[in-house]
Amino acid sequence: MADFVLDLRGLAEHAHTRAYYTLRELRSGQVFEVWLDQEPKMLMDAVSLQLRQAIHWRVLEDGPPLWKLAVQRREDVAPVDLVDLLERDHLRIDRLFASALHKVNAGDLEGAAPDFHAYVDGLRRHVEVENELIVPLLDLPRSPNGQDPTSIMLREHDEILEQTAMLEHEFSEGVDEAWAVAPFFALISGALAKHEGREEQNLFPHWSRALREQPDAAAELLERAQTLLTAPDPAPHSN
Ligand SMILES: [Fe+2]
Ligand SMILES: [Fe+2]
Repeated sequence: MADFVLDLRGLAEHAHTRAYYTLRELRSGQVFEVWLDQEPKMLMDAVSLQLRQAIHWRVLEDGPPLWKLAVQRREDVAPVDLVDLLERDHLRIDRLFASALHKVNAGDLEGAAPDFHAYVDGLRRHVEVENELIVPLLDLPRSPNGQDPTSIMLREHDEILEQTAMLEHEFSEGVDEAWAVAPFFALISGALAKHEGREEQNLFPHWSRALREQPDAAAELLERAQTLLTAPDPAPHSN
């Protein structure tokens, strides 16, 4: 039973705008049905991209003349492959960072610390999966000038980890004024968004293709990545 039926029939080029504004409101646990009188792939891919892949859709009824789709938040369905898992993890890391940033901007440094530490932990695991698990296995061609997507990714990881470590150091010293850390936050925020965007556009399509060519390795890799990303935090140090 759908929570909402979005009937886009007869809307022609307005279908896209209506779909975007309605599906933006989709909440976790809900299923929206979308009815269309045109082939859905182009429209839904465009809307998904605008919503940073936060939605998942599948065909319930195939047209013509009528296509019916079920649309859910992506976190409500299991990841379909490794790239899907990593894109979701980008969103998770972004949310943690944004929440820490928001609290810093509001002057709530104490409140920002747990989100910031969860971001650091998530970022390190994510980079470990990309650098240590995927890069050696897929072994994509690299160019000597270092301008290939893999080399760019590895360089950007070093930069973001370094900036994050500087900020971590500030927190461990005990920050008492938001202005002392705000510039670091701004720097990382920009670098992270650009990096994830570049990865999703320039590198993940290559990874998807390589993984489709070796389904057994892909399934094993997905499982190992899932374990690495979700393993419980190491026990805190005790003295
Ligand atoms: Fe990355
Ligand atoms: Fe990534």
